[in-house]
Amino acid sequence: MDATKLMFKDGLMAGERILITGGGTGLGKEMAEAFAALGAEVVICGRRGDVLAQTAEEIMAKHGGAQHGRVRPIACDIRSPEAIAEMVDAIWAEAPLTGLVNNAAGNFLARTEDLSIRAFDAIANIVFRGSFVVTLDIGKRWIAEGRKGNVLSILTTWVWKGGPFTVPSAMSKAGLNVMTQSLALEWARHNIRFNAIAPGPFPTEGMSKRLMPGRDQKKFGENPMNRDGEMHELCNLAVLLMGPGCEYINGQTLAIDGGAYLAGDGRLAELSAWGDAEWAEARAAITSVNAKDRAARTV
Ligand code: COA
Repeated sequence: MDATKLMFKDGLMAGERILITGGGTGLGKEMAEAFAALGAEVVICGRRGDVLAQTAEEIMAKHGGAQHGRVRPIACDIRSPEAIAEMVDAIWAEAPLTGLVNNAAGNFLARTEDLSIRAFDAIANIVFRGSFVVTLDIGKRWIAEGRKGNVLSILTTWVWKGGPFTVPSAMSKAGLNVMTQSLALEWARHNIRFNAIAPGPFPTEGMSKRLMPGRDQKKFGENPMNRDGEMHELCNLAVLLMGPGCEYINGQTLAIDGGAYLAGDGRLAELSAWGDAEWAEARAAITSVNAKDRAARTV
C-alpha cells in the first residue's frame, strides 16, 4: 500500500489500540500498516508466528517513530476460545483495546457437493465461530469496564447475493453481517459500534491461490470500473470506520467493489461449466497451498 495515498492526517489514530485478526498477510496486513502509519497501536494475530513477526517488523521499519504506532504480533488460532482468551488477557495486561477488526478468514473454491463436514468446519470455525468468539471476549471486557469500543468485520458482497462454489464462506460471512447489524443495536447502549466492509476484487496471495487456483482472475467477470481495487482505497475506508470523526456510522456494511456486485458476478456461468477434471485440478492446487500454509503454522 502506498501510505502517501491515505486521506487522513498524521496522528489521526493516536490513542487507538486495535486488534486485527489475520493481520500478518493480505488485507489485514494492509490495514495494520494504515492504522500504524496514522498513529494507532496495532496488535496482529494469526497462526504463523514467523509471518506475524516479519510483518510487524516491516511495518515498524516503514512507519515506526515517535508519531507512529507500534505493531505487536501474537500467534493465536481463533478456532480455539481458550487461545483467544489467553491472547486477549495478554493484550489487556499491557493496555485495553479500543477496536477490533475481524479480518481472519479461510476459503477455497469447491463444488458444495464435494465438501465434507470437516471442510465446512475448516472455514466456519475460523470465519463464523472464531470471529464471534473474539468479538464476544473483547466485547464483554469493554462492557464490564465501561469502555467504548469499535468493531469492523471484513465481509464480502456475497452476503447479499450469495457465493456459489464458496458456500461455507458465504454462509459464515452472512452470519457476521447479521452479527454486525444485531450487535450494532444491542450494544449501542454500551457505546460499542459495529460496521463491516464488503470488499470486491483486492487481489491478495491467499485469495488468489484458493479462489482462482492456476487461473487468470480477470476471467471472473467484468468490473464496471474495469479494474481491481487499490489497497489504499480499502485502507482509507477502514480508517474512516475505525478512526475518530464519523462515530455515528453504526450497523452498516459498505461495499467497496467498483459497483461489481450490482452488475452481477461473472463466476457463476464459468464455474457452472467446469467438469470433474477442472474441479480435480483446482482441488489439487488448493490442497498444495493449504499444506504449505499448515507447515508454517506455529500454533
Ligand atoms: N475441495 C473440497 N474439499 C476440500 C478442498 C477443496 N478444494 N480443500 C480442502 N478440502 C477439505 C479437505 O479434504 C478436508 O476435509 P476432509 O478431512 O474431510 O478430507 C478439509 O477441507 C480441511 O482440509 P485441510 O487441508 O485440513 O484444511 P486446513 O485445515 O488447511 O484449512 C483453510 C483450510 C482454507 C481453512 C486454510 O487453508 C486456511 O486457514 N486458510 C487461511 C487463508 C485463506 O484461506 N485465505 C483465503 C481468503 S479468501
